Amino acid sequence: MTGALRLEVDIPRATLVIDRPDKRNAFDYDMWAALPALVAEVAADPDIRVLVVRGTDTFSAGADISEFTTRRRGGDAIRHYNEVVDAGISAVSGLAVPTIAAITGYCLGGGCELALSCDLRLAADDARFGIPPARLGIVYGLASTKRLVDAVGAAWAKQILYTGDHLDAAIALRIGLVNEVHPAGGLDERSLALTGRIAARSGVTQRGAKTIIGRILRGQHAADDDVTAIYDESYVSADYAEGVAAFLEKRAPDFP
Ligand code: COA
Repeated sequence: MTGALRLEVDIPRATLVIDRPDKRNAFDYDMWAALPALVAEVAADPDIRVLVVRGTDTFSAGADISEFTTRRRGGDAIRHYNEVVDAGISAVSGLAVPTIAAITGYCLGGGCELALSCDLRLAADDARFGIPPARLGIVYGLASTKRLVDAVGAAWAKQILYTGDHLDAAIALRIGLVNEVHPAGGLDERSLALTGRIAARSGVTQRGAKTIIGRILRGQHAADDDVTAIYDESYVSADYAEGVAAFLEKRAPDFP
């Protein structure tokens, strides 16, 4: 899809660009519905090592509220709409490679949900965060609430959901909603540096860490056969051979 949502590939990174500036990058139905296929393109390309999600001028003002009285009206339509949103968000959170949200401007509602479905969040110092169901009379979904709680803890999740208030980047940093804050003009540079850093490290390690952290967040607290298999596979991987050889030869590893 081009236009409002598009994928730009510049190996080793791909960037999902939200580009609907006249509506503050609000996500309409078609954009949510387009997400799984765009993410599948990333998953299908083994040379893509990191996905960055970013907006053009602003990150995203969330779901398109104008559709709440049209496409998202009535029980069945609302359920269907929510399933499409969940499928888009789950596609991003289910991606095996590391994902980074690079956040400028507004990061609200569904925009914040999308950012929370990424592994890491970098923010510009002008970023504003909020999840406004309490302004609209909506009950926020369980999977999305869990992602919020996982990031900021129950007390801040409650404050955010009870008030619908906007938080600035400094508070977002303090409560763990974002990993880093940078001057607005420096966010692209930091994002490029971090994606380069991640791409230079072992993909075997990163995929294993992502899988294991995902399992921990779903309540697993001890290794099982699947986890043991992940360890075992790493020790016969080309990454392991290269990592050890590079250390012994006193050079930087060149992971496959
Ligand atoms: N859905 C649909 N349209 C949206 C939107 C959204 N979530 N957010 C912004 N827009 C549209 C506005 O309707 C306006 O369209 P128009 O020019 O055709 O009237 C345009 O984007 C610009 O928005 P505006 O409110 O004039 O910009 P602003 O800079 O004064 O304020 C926001 C920006 C993001 C603070 C404000 O637009 C806002 O509160 N948006 C809703 C955020 C929200 O509740 N999101 C969660 C949805 S569940």
